[in-house]
Amino acid sequence: MKYIVGNYKMQLTTRETSALVKGVLHGLSLDDVLPEIILCPTFTALPDVQKLIKKTPVNLGAQNVASTGLGAHTGEVAAAQLVDVGCTHTLIGHSERRAAGESGDDVHEKILEALAAGLTPIICVGETATERAADQTNAVITRQITSALTDVAFPRKTPCLIAYEPVWAIGAASPATAAQISEAHSLIRHLLVGLGSVIDDIAVLYGGSVDASNALAILREQEVDGVLVGGASLKIHEFSAIIKAGTAVMTATHV
Ligand code: PGA
Repeated sequence: MKYIVGNYKMQLTTRETSALVKGVLHGLSLDDVLPEIILCPTFTALPDVQKLIKKTPVNLGAQNVASTGLGAHTGEVAAAQLVDVGCTHTLIGHSERRAAGESGDDVHEKILEALAAGLTPIICVGETATERAADQTNAVITRQITSALTDVAFPRKTPCLIAYEPVWAIGAASPATAAQISEAHSLIRHLLVGLGSVIDDIAVLYGGSVDASNALAILREQEVDGVLVGGASLKIHEFSAIIKAGTAVMTATHV
């Protein structure tokens, strides 16, 4: 299985989001072997998108979740509230949230909240340009994965989705190289196995400047189970082409 995740960030109104999702759905060919598609709009657009995707194979994801359950937490959205509007997934620990102050402990708590509510977390990790230049890439990934997932038990049939997103490749001119991606992904897989977590199914996605021109090559990499797409997910033709690349790779490999 390949995963194609669209992260709309804080870019669109509800009306613009609906128009985008309608366009993406229109481009889907239900006769194809489809990758697992997960759309992550802004909180305010979740109910509209849920209505649009209800009778399709597309899944709904949030971009963030509170680190606690329901209660007096002004401005937060709990995992149970995301489930209430139809979410099945949520991003956790995106680098833009970590840059805004989210800690490794926060990420860990959010994962526990998501899993307890029945959401599948998509856990984002990745190093900054400075950390890579200082040869700290593996140390950063190890720290982020370990603090996120130590003593976390995944319910049966809930996959562990990790998105490797080197911060320097997000919204950049080009993605990381195939060698950089493969090295990070195999480290992540190795770490997850070493944590001894009860995980049936591990999928490691790549994110950072994925677009229609490079998606096929990235998705063809054996270590890559999918892509997390920001900027290019806001363009119907780009995102539809990325979904088609996922279909092409899945059909070629019969997975
Ligand atoms: P990008 O963003 O595809 O625009 O580089 C990816 C992300 O931030 O998830």
